[in-house]
Amino acid sequence: MAALVGAGVDVTIGTRHPRGRDDGVSERAVQLDRMTAADDWQSMAASFDTILNCVGILRQRGHETYERVHHEAPAAIARACADAGTRFVHVSALGLAHPHRSRFLTSKRRGEQALQDAGGDWMLVRPSLLDGEGGFGAAWLRGVARLPVFAVPADAQGLIAACCARDVGEALMRLSTAEAGALDLSQSRIFELGGTEAHRFKDYIRGLRALQRTGRALAIPIPGILARLGAHLCDLLHFSPFSFGHWELLRKDNVPTPNRLPELLARAPRRVI
Ligand SMILES: NC(=O)c1ccc[n+]([C@@H]2O[C@H](COP(=O)([O-])OP(=O)(O)OC[C@H]3O[C@@H](n4cnc5c(N)ncnc54)[C@H](OP(=O)(O)O)[C@@H]3O)[C@@H](O)[C@H]2O)c1
Repeated sequence: MAALVGAGVDVTIGTRHPRGRDDGVSERAVQLDRMTAADDWQSMAASFDTILNCVGILRQRGHETYERVHHEAPAAIARACADAGTRFVHVSALGLAHPHRSRFLTSKRRGEQALQDAGGDWMLVRPSLLDGEGGFGAAWLRGVARLPVFAVPADAQGLIAACCARDVGEALMRLSTAEAGALDLSQSRIFELGGTEAHRFKDYIRGLRALQRTGRALAIPIPGILARLGAHLCDLLHFSPFSFGHWELLRKDNVPTPNRLPELLARAPRRVI
């Protein structure tokens, strides 16, 4: 949002909990799990130049299911935007093409497909792991990095090209506001975004540690099957950002191919570690 406001864009935030802001940014009550038909979005799609969807849930709660929030609602927004001629920028994630079993991931994959089926002026953004102030997952990882000892799934061998959340914010601002002719859509409407360096999870945590502490931390490998059980337990207890889906993601490389962040920023991405 900061990038959009900084660029002078008239922003309205869709949120489940409008709180009455005093910074000139307006709000509208929006609940994706209750808005899964294109009709629910028609008037909104007609009143905005762009709808930018950054909604995602880590865990299901009652009516808020992965299927409704990650698939059915984005599909409905995409259809309403295609009908109204409104741009739809949808934030998904890297690594969904692998044959995952987590419904957190498979629902996101179905959301991506629905967007492409709807047609219109859609853009699909797949960021890598984000680092930044205030992020739930980022704060956890920075916290783990401060510990002298940490556990790591032994099968977390995939490469991660973490990137700075501020950079992704700037890229989303550009995708949301640029004239279609100013973006290179000839190759693809899909924008995979990441940092310029890729690391295994263990080395990423050590890199974060080096920014905050001196001395090397001890990484204790946990057998894959135990890490998977731990991930299911975290899901059951809604504890930490570590989930079955993240365990699956960590096992494979998740690097943007190609990385379109430099193209959108017109500069090199900021380094995370
Ligand atoms: N963080 C990462 O490292 C990372 C990496 C790759 C991709 N992504 C993806 O990027 C997106 C944003 O990630 P994030 O880390 O910024 O997530 P986040 O901090 O959890 O923000 C998600 C937002 O979704 C809104 N939301 C949740 N359920 C909703 C519902 N039922 N209806 C309407 N709004 C709802 C919440 O807004 P309110 O509370 O105001 O309603 C919340 O602020 C997600 O799709 C995520 O999977 C994140």
